[in-house]
Amino acid sequence: MRAFVLSSTFAGAALAAANGPYAQCGGNGWAGETTCSDGYTCTFSNDWYSQCLPGTAPIPAPTSVAPTTTTAGAPTSTSSGKFKWFGINQSVAEFGEANLPGTWGKDFYFPSDETIATLISQGYNAFRIAFLMERLVPDKLTASANAGYLANLTHTVDTITKAGAYAILDSHNYGRYYGNVITDASQFTAYYTTLAGAFKGNDKVVFDTNNEWHDVDQAVVFDLNQAAIDAIRAAGATSQYIFAEGNSWTGAWHWNTTNDNLKALKDPQDKLVYEMHQYLDSDGSGTSDVCVSADIGVQRVVGATEWLRQNGKKGIIGEYAGGANAQCEAAVKGMLDHMLANSDVWMGAVWWAGGPWWADYIYSFEPPSGTAYKYYNSILKAYAP
Ligand SMILES: *[C@@H]1O[C@H](CO)[C@@H](O)[C@H](O)[C@H]1NC(C)=O
Ligand SMILES: *[C@@H]1O[C@H](CO)[C@@H](O)[C@H](O)[C@H]1NC(C)=O
Ligand SMILES: *[C@@H]1O[C@H](CO)[C@@H](O)[C@H](O)[C@H]1NC(C)=O
Repeated sequence: MRAFVLSSTFAGAALAAANGPYAQCGGNGWAGETTCSDGYTCTFSNDWYSQCLPGTAPIPAPTSVAPTTTTAGAPTSTSSGKFKWFGINQSVAEFGEANLPGTWGKDFYFPSDETIATLISQGYNAFRIAFLMERLVPDKLTASANAGYLANLTHTVDTITKAGAYAILDSHNYGRYYGNVITDASQFTAYYTTLAGAFKGNDKVVFDTNNEWHDVDQAVVFDLNQAAIDAIRAAGATSQYIFAEGNSWTGAWHWNTTNDNLKALKDPQDKLVYEMHQYLDSDGSGTSDVCVSADIGVQRVVGATEWLRQNGKKGIIGEYAGGANAQCEAAVKGMLDHMLANSDVWMGAVWWAGGPWWADYIYSFEPPSGTAYKYYNSILKAYAP
């Protein structure tokens, strides 16, 4: 979810003349700047997304709508019809990012044990816990962990995993630390050595490399992901899954052009899963309760399905949501049904988001009265493994 940073970094940059590297520059419903800075060309990805990619040769946009069926000749699905992971993001420990480290109970908080128990009782088995790197390792990436924040995070993790579910550790940082893009892989290695060292004994932890890189050099995104994988394994966390996120908000709808280089990532344990995010509103930002169409969910992930299968990779939708209305319901179900039919490559999906501070948020999955919990719980729990 990029709503919070949109108001600060991204929107500010977008309004000031040409778009920077890897920024969105077009697509149905796009009202922002459409030109790119020198050396970058606004490149069509699909009807809903064009992006500033390196190069100067214009690439013409096809006129037809993206196909929703599998390309002829592509390997076919050997789906089991089941997800491994299906759950809900838990978002609150990353709140108050403008106040670092911030005050517990005022700027940020931790997920509710009671909520987690309720959701597990409904069948959900995956919880993505958003937190901030600046709170876990204050001042510098090579620092050791802040004992209080780590203890609270560990409490949430243990609450989830002792009940048999998976806890996805989401460093919710957009590839940035105190607002500066992280470029030094050795710094990232130090951070992951600390984080993995703290959780290496828990098989049900998943390491999510970073939330939603955006406007970062594509080679840096690759290098940092590889540094994280290597550091996690070197720290002795060898049994856990790792979720690698990509650039341009890790969107599934343009993954096959934006993040194609990430197919070269290597995990010696072969437990790497590509985490993509996908919202169904017009600009894909997850800020509206209006979905583009009843089949927008399938349309936006089908290219990623093919990319995963062609490259022999696994994927998860680590964030998705739609408004509490019939059109979004159809779009959400269409996306999940498509993923389930291709569960040889799609391992699961995690709704955005639950958390005790979401109040009347359009996608709130916080029991008992969250807008989306009330509308979608009976629908989504049917997809739980
Ligand atoms: C951790 O949680 C306790 C309450 O259980 C709270 O008093 C403390 O301030 C929290 N510390 C941090 C750093 O989150
Ligand atoms: C990427 O996926 C889209 C569908 O979303 C498809 O139209 C396009 O041909 C794919 N591009 C590549 C390079 O595979
Ligand atoms: C999960 O939580 C993070 C933390 O705020 C958020 O940015 C992300 O968008 C959430 N995922 C979904 C699907 O909402």
